[in-house]
Amino acid sequence: MREPGPAPAALQDEQLFDLEIRLLLEAVYQRWQHDFRDYAVSSLRRRMRQAMTHFGCERLSQLQGRVLHEPEVFAQMLQFFTVQVSEMFRDPSYFRALREQVLPVLRTYPSLKIWVAGCSHGEEVWSLAILLAEEGLLARTILYATDINASALQRAESGIYPLDRVAGFSRNYLAAGGRGSLSDHYTSAYGGVAFDRRLKQQIVFADHSLATDSVFSEVHFVSCRNVLIYFNRALQDRALGLFNEALVRRGFLGLGLRETVQFSGHAADFEAFVPDQRIYRKA
Ligand SMILES: C[S@@+](CC[C@H](N)C(=O)[O-])C[C@H]1O[C@@H](n2cnc3c(N)ncnc32)[C@H](O)[C@@H]1O
Repeated sequence: MREPGPAPAALQDEQLFDLEIRLLLEAVYQRWQHDFRDYAVSSLRRRMRQAMTHFGCERLSQLQGRVLHEPEVFAQMLQFFTVQVSEMFRDPSYFRALREQVLPVLRTYPSLKIWVAGCSHGEEVWSLAILLAEEGLLARTILYATDINASALQRAESGIYPLDRVAGFSRNYLAAGGRGSLSDHYTSAYGGVAFDRRLKQQIVFADHSLATDSVFSEVHFVSCRNVLIYFNRALQDRALGLFNEALVRRGFLGLGLRETVQFSGHAADFEAFVPDQRIYRKA
């Protein structure tokens, strides 16, 4: 039998790194009220290592003082705490299912409110606005696009995207069942493309945290895609609880393709509506 001995050095390093992460998250919460304490540890580890390389630190704890005392360092750290990967009509099959299966139900309401939680640079909310415009529903819809990352929200609000992303956006749009050409909805501007101002009239961009804030409106549809994957189980439950509270009776919830309400404390509050696209309906 092996004698209990000291933990292997590699494991100790990992444990120390996790301790540094926990201390940094607590410092960030106390100082800046941004709460990342219930984010999934595995992806936090990866992103904190990237931050260390960016700031040229050997230890994460070396960053703590700077994060506490230098607002611009915290602003930069926010880019490492949050992941901003997105694209228009991401997972086209999801948008096709919305067009073909969810909008026919939503159009029976005289007015609509939609919440896009964790909207990043706005690709998802602009896609939804285009979809609603093409289905003749935009004029009676308010879209709330929320995120905790202020600079991401600013870019979302601008509706301007670089030219080299547009071919991919157009491909997704057509695969999602687009009625015309994506170019019907944008003009060339600032070396990129700017989406139609008329789409934006219906969108409200706002700072909102699924970790610390409460519900701000009653809505008919929540689209929160590729956000819960970064949360631990407790925070996923909190976010799903907010969505349940915000939704009208029989309202819809759309998650990312790797996300589910199954196994959560809110599994019984939702039933699958388009199971393979992770679209649920409030029970
Ligand atoms: C990977 S992006 C997802 C973008 C888009 N929904 C999509 O699926 O393409 C994740 C977004 O969640 C946001 N986020 C992270 N924590 C959040 C929180 N506590 N409350 C609201 N948004 C959050 C990040 O800032 C980021 O913009």
